[in-house]
Amino acid sequence: MSKIPISKLGYGCYALGGAYGNTVEVPRAIELIQLAYDLGIRFFDTADQYGTEAILGQAVRSFRSQIALATKVGADSGLARKNILASCDESLRRLDTDYIDLYQIHYDDPSVSVADVVETLEFLKGQGKIRSYGVGHLPLDKTLQYLEYGHPETVLAEMNAASLERYQDLRPLQQGHDFDIIAFSVTGRGLLTSEIPSVPHFSDTDIRRLDPLFKRSKLASGLRIKDKLTEIAGRINATPSQLAIAWVLGNPGVVAALTGPTDPQHLRENCASLDLNLESSLQQEISDFIRQEEKLKQTDISHEIQGILHTPATDSKLAKEGLVYVLEHCIEKGLIPYQIGVDLFSQLMQLEDSPTSLKPIQEIMAKMVPVS
Ligand SMILES: NC(=O)c1ccc[n+]([C@@H]2O[C@H](COP(=O)([O-])OP(=O)(O)OC[C@H]3O[C@@H](n4cnc5c(N)ncnc54)[C@H](OP(=O)(O)O)[C@@H]3O)[C@@H](O)[C@H]2O)c1
Repeated sequence: MSKIPISKLGYGCYALGGAYGNTVEVPRAIELIQLAYDLGIRFFDTADQYGTEAILGQAVRSFRSQIALATKVGADSGLARKNILASCDESLRRLDTDYIDLYQIHYDDPSVSVADVVETLEFLKGQGKIRSYGVGHLPLDKTLQYLEYGHPETVLAEMNAASLERYQDLRPLQQGHDFDIIAFSVTGRGLLTSEIPSVPHFSDTDIRRLDPLFKRSKLASGLRIKDKLTEIAGRINATPSQLAIAWVLGNPGVVAALTGPTDPQHLRENCASLDLNLESSLQQEISDFIRQEEKLKQTDISHEIQGILHTPATDSKLAKEGLVYVLEHCIEKGLIPYQIGVDLFSQLMQLEDSPTSLKPIQEIMAKMVPVS
């Protein structure tokens, strides 16, 4: 990544495709991306799956050579060689560019070996269609295989003051492998800003409706961290969101932080975090607080999980949300193997909401998750 122009703060186009519930009309999306550039952002991230590549390509046309464009492959097409090659051509066409600065593997495809995927990525590099490649939010063992078989320059990590697990897993790998971490969702999808109420309500089209970060003790812990950030931010005339971003960037091994607001005021606010020179004592104070919170949260979650898995479901909507919460936690902590967890998740999503239909999955999970 050091060879391509990248700014510490990057703009991600996920929300522009409607992921967080609000539709952004194309002209407004283009204005936002251009505003990001005017505010100093030189790194833009999207994915073939977001539906925003064409908007991004159109918005950056006049300053394309001044920025780094990142996109992703694998969500819809899988990772067979012919599919990656076709997807890359499609992304280039939609982005209206001759090259992609950073091409990232978005999801794992168990039917293709990592060595084969790496060979395809190296081939694309040789062709000049991509300048570098990176690993997305993949299971840790797969990430390690990419680091061993290939030369990914970056690994994506969901990373914010309320969500550090992925960073903690990746950081030790930087001892033996030469890659940078790109943090995403650095404001916790809005959780660490001044705008999320203590009882959030999300629309049906907002992915945060099912996001465990906004549920139960994870939410309670995130809000306490937000309060701490607000208190410290008050001392230095900043906002919690700015502090959340500056704190992520103050961690070793992190080359860039991706944020994706759709409100221009939020974008201005977040970009101003680049002017914050966070003193090391404040960086440490935040880290210490997070460490304590982490212990509290883990204790609370262990109790919650046993309650969710061993209490008969009565309200099916709540029960389903509870099982999603447990699954996400167990996959993240390696308590359930990744592929089994993903299969259970898709079974859960396909089930109709009724206590009786949820019961078998609840029982399977109760057998798999140890009482801690
Ligand atoms: N698996 C993956 O590979 C993966 C997953 C997620 C994200 N990403 C990448 O990372 C990028 C950034 O992630 P993200 O979009 O989750 O980042 P984010 O900036 O943490 O979250 C965006 C959400 O937070 C709100 N927000 C941001 N700043 C705010 C502020 N100052 N005040 C109030 N609300 C604020 C936005 O609200 P408004 O819209 O109202 O401004 C929006 O709902 C994505 O766009 C995508 O490119 C990758």
